[in-house]
Amino acid sequence: MDSLRELLQLTAHSAATYLEGIEERAVNAAASGPELRAALAEQLPEAPTDPARVVEELVEAADPGIVASAGGRYFGFVTGGSLPAALAADWLSSAWDQNGFSYVMSPAAAVVEEVAGSWLKELLGLPSTASVGFVTGAQMANVTALAAARHFVLERAGWDVARQGLQGSPPLRVFVGEERHATVDTSLRLLGIGCEQIEIVPADGHGRLRTAELARTLSDDPTIVCAEAGNVNTGAFDPFGELADATTATGAWLHVDGAFGLWAGASPRLRHLVEGVERADSWACDAHKWLNVPYDSGLVFCAHADAHRAATAVVGAYLVAADVERDGGAWTPEASRRARGFPVYAAIRSLGRRGIAELVERCCRHARRFAELLGDATDVQVLNDVVLNQVLVRFGDDDDRTCEVIRHVQQEGTAWFGGTVWHGRAAMRISVSSWRTTEKDVERSVEAILEAAAAVSGALR
Ligand SMILES: Cc1ncc(COP(=O)(O)O)c(C=O)c1O
Repeated sequence: MDSLRELLQLTAHSAATYLEGIEERAVNAAASGPELRAALAEQLPEAPTDPARVVEELVEAADPGIVASAGGRYFGFVTGGSLPAALAADWLSSAWDQNGFSYVMSPAAAVVEEVAGSWLKELLGLPSTASVGFVTGAQMANVTALAAARHFVLERAGWDVARQGLQGSPPLRVFVGEERHATVDTSLRLLGIGCEQIEIVPADGHGRLRTAELARTLSDDPTIVCAEAGNVNTGAFDPFGELADATTATGAWLHVDGAFGLWAGASPRLRHLVEGVERADSWACDAHKWLNVPYDSGLVFCAHADAHRAATAVVGAYLVAADVERDGGAWTPEASRRARGFPVYAAIRSLGRRGIAELVERCCRHARRFAELLGDATDVQVLNDVVLNQVLVRFGDDDDRTCEVIRHVQQEGTAWFGGTVWHGRAAMRISVSSWRTTEKDVERSVEAILEAAAAVSGALR
């Protein structure tokens, strides 16, 4: 036991040292793939190694390849950090090694999920009766919700997809916005709905689906409409009230991918952005983005619990189903699974409703500050209305210059930003999603961007 305690203390010490130094560390990885391979890829070990040595050597070899995305100056993709309480509870999930599949395998995991699920619905403004599943991320949340949608709309057309499959089913219409997130397509593909079967609805200049165009073509065939709460480039929100009117009129299922944007519902100041979202049939969200829970932690909610359960429940003679209590595995595509409720519960308890609203609002304030500081600089254009935590910028007129600035900033290491293509032109994406980001981080990062822009201009001159 002593050596186990020592091992865990050594590991905790190493993790704490890493996190204490994270703001001083370069945000990018120091080592290349071949360098990391040289340090890590030894022959398959024949003999055992002492666990403490395994951990120490792993830390040493992996460290140069670790990206400081848990720090305050990582603005790539949509990346949250880890709140201290969530990180600690995540460690406990590993130490307890609970299987989140069923109540009988872990009553604590099951009840904590149930409680956290109720809190989440209240925070996000979703119906209290919605079913909840704790999945790996928003892509799997989309898969789960769309599987429930497929089941529900086909069942109403007299077709049991669980029994009869998709071949020969009544035609299923699926509408997506032109600027939907890429994982919506992947999720549909995994459910047997190919890209040529998807009907694409044009978007406006901010990336919002145009409801009038959708309403013109909706029919009363089995139909699923996929909307976005928070465009991954601009942060824009689809018009949920209008969409719910249109889908209710024809009986279509409305799904909302709100991986990060649904968190606007947790802030009294930003709630207007998701007005009407509660009228949807299903929702995908992430806790590992804006709630700042460690990876992996996605959330799916469904207004039609029966359809949700029909799409995901597992039945087997040896699987002891709870009579009264909630089995977490009945609501997710995975059977055995990490007890993801613990860190979500801890994150919500540690911040409270007020702290979560402040976190979301603070990130949006930082995003506006980025836009202000960069918008004032010569030759930098802010391309979007900064309604949330996403900012898009462009440097000069040609795409190469923007790509070069992004490359420079990424290599320099003060901060990290990714690139994208918006309306056919290259842009830098800034996504502020971490509890750690401060005003100082924003200012330091803007300086790094402007220095990179000046260096690229100098080189191009
Ligand atoms: C809008 C949106 N949907 C879905 C996803 C996929 O989320 P995940 O990577 O957690 O599966 C993302 C990720 O950035 C996103 O921004």
